[in-house]
Amino acid sequence: MEVQADGDHFISSQLGGLAGTQMALRAAIELKVFNIIADAGPDAHLSAAEIISKIPTKDPSSAAWTLERVLRVLGGNSILSIISRKPSGNNGEHGRHEWTYGLTKKSRRLASSSSTTDELLAILQGLWSELFDYMGEKPRLRQLFDEFMEVSGKLQFEDVFKLYGGFKDLKELMDVGGGIGTTLAKITSTYPHVRGLNFDLPHVIDAAPKLPGVKHVAGDMFKWIPNAQTILLQCILHNWDDEHCKKLLRNCWEALPQEGKVIIVEMAISEELENNVEAKDVLMEDFFMMLLTNGGKKRTLAEFKDLGNAVGFTKVDIFQCLIGQFML
Ligand SMILES: C[S@@+](CC[C@H](N)C(=O)[O-])C[C@H]1O[C@@H](n2cnc3c(N)ncnc32)[C@H](O)[C@@H]1O
Repeated sequence: MEVQADGDHFISSQLGGLAGTQMALRAAIELKVFNIIADAGPDAHLSAAEIISKIPTKDPSSAAWTLERVLRVLGGNSILSIISRKPSGNNGEHGRHEWTYGLTKKSRRLASSSSTTDELLAILQGLWSELFDYMGEKPRLRQLFDEFMEVSGKLQFEDVFKLYGGFKDLKELMDVGGGIGTTLAKITSTYPHVRGLNFDLPHVIDAAPKLPGVKHVAGDMFKWIPNAQTILLQCILHNWDDEHCKKLLRNCWEALPQEGKVIIVEMAISEELENNVEAKDVLMEDFFMMLLTNGGKKRTLAEFKDLGNAVGFTKVDIFQCLIGQFML
């Protein structure tokens, strides 16, 4: 295969951009930059030198210059806001232009408390496989995670509802790994005849609110899943390697009646990779799964079918939505 120079440049700059942003974000979290800016006041903008003055360092001048370059990357990615400040007197070390940096909506979250920063760093360091247990001991982190899933789940479900009419024919639906039950509540409020069971880890269920039409059930999906007519797995399989997915699907198989089914809602990787927004979103999520999980990944439709077939699901129906969710 021939790759044109333009294509090479595009790929390397995209990859470099991704890796660079990750590294800059991690450095800023470790240095507690977001907390330092937050401590300076709600709309504060600080220069790199002002931030460095709050961090113990042997050579503040060179550290400020290094930090400046980190902060510019975050500014360029809208993680920090940047204001240009005209150098006056000794400001703007070595005649350099000086910028000041403030928090944006995104980065305000990263400064919300010092323990949150540590917890987010722990995630970046690759603790995802133990993350769900870890969050059991950190209710604030779990709350942030559930808020994030609620927003992203809502967006996804708008699309699923438009395309998939199958929920209306169900009597009972168990959302395995359903978090605090937000998705299921949306289904049971739209189709009140559906009995909703929301299954998740005990510490998640303990914090789940009472929701109309939803019964919460606590357990470990890799050990045992209670019987149900139909099972929903939304954004679950992508967190796990093939062996875990097969174990989970086998447990689903055992929980289902003869005519039961699993509905999987997840973004799939297209085999014909194209350079469009949808493909980039899936690939970006896949990249994060690689960074954050032990073996979690985005899959192609064929790979999903293989997982299903491996544990005995023979009939697979695909419903493709705008951003690639589908159901087995
Ligand atoms: C990525 S979230 C998806 C949440 C929800 N399905 C959604 O789409 O918004 C994964 C969920 O799986 C749950 N989970 C992880 N390990 C589990 C286990 N062993 N048993 C039951 N649930 C588990 C987590 O607590 C979390 O709520």
